[in-house]
Amino acid sequence: MSENIIIMGGGVIGLSVAFELQRRGCSTTVLEIARCGGQASGAAAGMLAPYSENVEGPDPFFQLCLDSLRLYLSWIKGIREQSAIPFQYSESGSLYLTYHEADRLALEGRLLWQRQHGSTGTIVDGAALFDMEPLLSRQVKAALYTPEESHLYAPDYVRALEDGCRTLGVAIHDELGGVSVEQWRDGIVLAAKDGRRFEGDRLVVCSGAWAQELAGTFGIPLPIYPIRGQICAYAFDEVNAAHNGQAVRHMLFGNQGYLVAKANGTLVCGASEDVAGFDTTVTERGIERLRGWNKLAVPMLESRVPFHQWAGLRPSTQDGYPFLGELDHTAQVMFAAGHYRNGILLSPITAKLVADRIQNNALPSYYPYFSPRRFAIS
Ligand code: FAD
Ligand code: GLY
Repeated sequence: MSENIIIMGGGVIGLSVAFELQRRGCSTTVLEIARCGGQASGAAAGMLAPYSENVEGPDPFFQLCLDSLRLYLSWIKGIREQSAIPFQYSESGSLYLTYHEADRLALEGRLLWQRQHGSTGTIVDGAALFDMEPLLSRQVKAALYTPEESHLYAPDYVRALEDGCRTLGVAIHDELGGVSVEQWRDGIVLAAKDGRRFEGDRLVVCSGAWAQELAGTFGIPLPIYPIRGQICAYAFDEVNAAHNGQAVRHMLFGNQGYLVAKANGTLVCGASEDVAGFDTTVTERGIERLRGWNKLAVPMLESRVPFHQWAGLRPSTQDGYPFLGELDHTAQVMFAAGHYRNGILLSPITAKLVADRIQNNALPSYYPYFSPRRFAIS
């Protein structure tokens, strides 16, 4: 491949696509209106949790998530070969908590289908559960333990990805203020706010929640909406020291939130799902709701106040599936946007599928489910 490919958006998805295409031989340019990783990607909790994030059943989206998890080890090895910026990756496993005996049945049902898809999970309760997670509330009746799930520190991961792209020779133009598509048939031309023009053979749209702005340009509906996630972190160094290591050892999920301990001594707690347009303000109510759930999971958090709070805009789509694929048979314009709650997890598979499509490699049977044309009336 020796094509010139323009990537619109420098979040985790745009950078991952650039990384993969460049190392397969393309000449790749990333155009970013602000700072790379400055939106949803830098705000994320970094959980790689296809089982805990998909509780309904093994649909195409779950398959996509699972395939991505399976790529992760070789993917991060590839990034670390190109960047010396360190980032935490922890194979912590997860516990999905229930507080009522009646909910155990739902956990068992989920475990049944997830075990057919690579999980070696088990249901744990009583002394075994509190041995695994000593700070857990004694009100927790049982948990689904999934050893396969892991997490990374998203802000550092995205920095390493950006650095790795630069090492490979990706041209990254950030702080552009505005970028628009001037031409997309018979060659690609994009224009930046300062008048600079960028030409390429193909365009990959990776502008997250902002991808909806291109519906008029391409003449198809692109129902992508921002869903704000408010999230916060507790300083946990001294609690960790008292426990001779990570005091909270696994990712803890419940149906109202999650807790995940980071190597930098913080305990991250997320996240709200607000309809607030493109507003990234953190609200007192939003954080109070998180704190309400936190103390149910880990009672010692009742007396603690988060030292840091922030918010990001998840790119959500009308049906919950990302837009991943080509606009027409020429694949001169491709989409990789709308990854909602799982863009960090989905970064390797997204990069692989875009590159495979451009190289005309075989694609998985679920690929058509994510077509960006699926809301167009043909
Ligand atoms: P973004 O990171 O938003 O990047 C899009 C970029 O495009 C932005 O930088 C923007 O400035 C740029 N842009 C916009 N318009 C243009 C234009 N016209 N031209 C050029 N550039 C443009 N996912 C997980 O897998 N695990 C998690 O634990 C997790 N936790 C999360 C917690 C929170 C609180 C939030 C908010 C999200 C979380 N996510 C998680 C979801 C994940 O962050 C997103 O799915 C992912 O970051 C989306 O990446 P993206 O690159 O598509 O979008
Ligand atoms: N995947 C976690 C979140 O989106 O909050």
